[in-house]
Amino acid sequence: MLNQNHLLGLKYLSATEIKEILEQATYFKQLFNRPVKQVPTLKNKTLVSLFYEPSTRTKGSFDMAMKMLGAGSLNFAVNTSSVNKGETLVDTVKNLASMGVDGIIVRHSMAGVPELIAKNVDIPVINAGDGFNEHPTQALLDMFTMTEEKGYIEGKKVTIIGDIKHSRVVRSNIWGLSKLGAEVTVCGPASLIPHGIEEMGCKVVHKVEDAIKGADFINVLRVQFERQKGSYFPSSREYYHEYGITPSRVKLAKEDVLIMHPGPMNRGVEISTDVADGPYNVILEQVSNGVAIRMAVLYMLLARRNAR
Ligand code: CP
Repeated sequence: MLNQNHLLGLKYLSATEIKEILEQATYFKQLFNRPVKQVPTLKNKTLVSLFYEPSTRTKGSFDMAMKMLGAGSLNFAVNTSSVNKGETLVDTVKNLASMGVDGIIVRHSMAGVPELIAKNVDIPVINAGDGFNEHPTQALLDMFTMTEEKGYIEGKKVTIIGDIKHSRVVRSNIWGLSKLGAEVTVCGPASLIPHGIEEMGCKVVHKVEDAIKGADFINVLRVQFERQKGSYFPSSREYYHEYGITPSRVKLAKEDVLIMHPGPMNRGVEISTDVADGPYNVILEQVSNGVAIRMAVLYMLLARRNAR
């Protein structure tokens, strides 16, 4: 049972709560292979997705999850809403809650926006990515994929390589993986590693070969060019040379290493096409698992919450 009314970040979840979400997602994933994929669990509920930043995977899989649970979805596009007339975020969400929506899914460029919304409405709020802070459903689907592929997470060596500084995915992964007992290493150019990140419970290694050695999982992060003000490395070509995940670098990891990427990928910058499409990648499995995880989160916050 989740002891939370919202999913704001993995920082706030216990290991038990994380494991319960993963178990619930395992149950929902079984539906994927059935002729009738929908269950009516949330048939009287309507959610709204507020995406102030672009998204393919997160928005799409929340939409799929809502459909599969029988929930309605209120169509809201930031660009054609009264946000463009200057309406504040808090006024926007209070108005949506007054219409009777049962939950809010939000992605925003500012860290802390989901928490701000949660303080102003009396319905569940789900963080779909806030600034550099957290992307909890991404880390949950990453951990679900790891568990599905290898059976367990405790003691596994997870190496996360790339633009650590601008990544909300890495923060949620560090919170979640360390709670489940994984050994987490982050790697990237010094300019893209925030000071003090070790305090979250990970190791920092700058040489990519050292970081990869013996890894069970390599999670490759996108270079977030759109968030970078100034220059963090001389050129994409040099980044690829120093940090790009290539077949020869993958050979340094465990023989059965799995390659992950939250997407979207910059092929030829942080990852070579040979690796992205290669035998060890589980990148599209991550995307499928995103639907199961989002079903689990919606179910646990909206259906089980009412049953308490
Ligand atoms: N992984 C992820 O958040 O992808 P989108 O930006 O496409 O949602």
